[in-house]
Amino acid sequence: MIYLNNKLVPDRKALISVYDHGFLYGDGIYETLRAYKGVVFMLDEHIERLFHSASMVDLTIPRDRKSIKKAVYETLKANKLTEAYIRITVSRGAGPLGLDPDLCPKLTFVIMTREFSKYPAEYYQKGIRIAVVKTRRNYKMAVDPAIKSLNFLNNILAKIEAKKMGAYEAIMLNYRGYVAEGTISNIFFIKDGVLCTPSMQVGILGGITRSMILDIAKELKILIKEGRFWKKDLYKADEVFISNTTMEVMPVTGVDDIIIGNGTGSITKMLHKAYRKKVVNYLKKEGK
Ligand code: PDD
Repeated sequence: MIYLNNKLVPDRKALISVYDHGFLYGDGIYETLRAYKGVVFMLDEHIERLFHSASMVDLTIPRDRKSIKKAVYETLKANKLTEAYIRITVSRGAGPLGLDPDLCPKLTFVIMTREFSKYPAEYYQKGIRIAVVKTRRNYKMAVDPAIKSLNFLNNILAKIEAKKMGAYEAIMLNYRGYVAEGTISNIFFIKDGVLCTPSMQVGILGGITRSMILDIAKELKILIKEGRFWKKDLYKADEVFISNTTMEVMPVTGVDDIIIGNGTGSITKMLHKAYRKKVVNYLKKEGK
């Protein structure tokens, strides 16, 4: 079942117009969430980011946070899911051809869910390989990567490059050549015990997992450096990992042709363990 606008409909009947500006122009925003044991992790934070993205593209969502939360849980329940991948998509809606958002009187609101498919265990044990690609991350003053928009061509072009290079994730640099982020993930590395990650000023999405990792690092008294880094800093790192809602903390053992460390690093493992603990505590709070 799909939640479409105001109701749940069977997926084959969940159809939107060819005039939808999300389809025509990529005009819209989205969120990806994960449910553990039927509890949607960091739901408030994801909804907050949805509203933030909406405000950055001048889109008014005619719903309150509470009704969106309710709709998410209704969709999960209708699909009898507990371990789930959830996507909330909000597009400008259908309207005549033309870029003017005012052509679209009513936005399209969709919630999709599916059973969460686990990443192969060996990705976590052995680490994955990433490639620093030629495609640069969108310039902050053009399309700010902090907007989680439907306009994903920048990321898709990077993904195509990474696939050709046989890498699991692409890492994009910003227009000045500083390390920015992956196509669907944030990047971190550890050098001499310091946890380093590109700052928001570089032009990245403020990942919810990223902020949790930074909080955890503070709690564990790990030194943090948010800033500007070059590709060569990744090459020389002791440990590298990427993060997002579905992957949590994913170790990286290869960047381009460079081998990082010898297997998954100890700080990466420690951070992932602490992240898992946060998930467990969150579930406990929600009565699971
Ligand atoms: N992607 N950077 C980009 C470009 C992303 O698309 C994502 C999330 C992240 C990590 O954000 P978070 O920790 O809040 O998941 C960083 C999701 C998973 C997606 O596109 O499906």
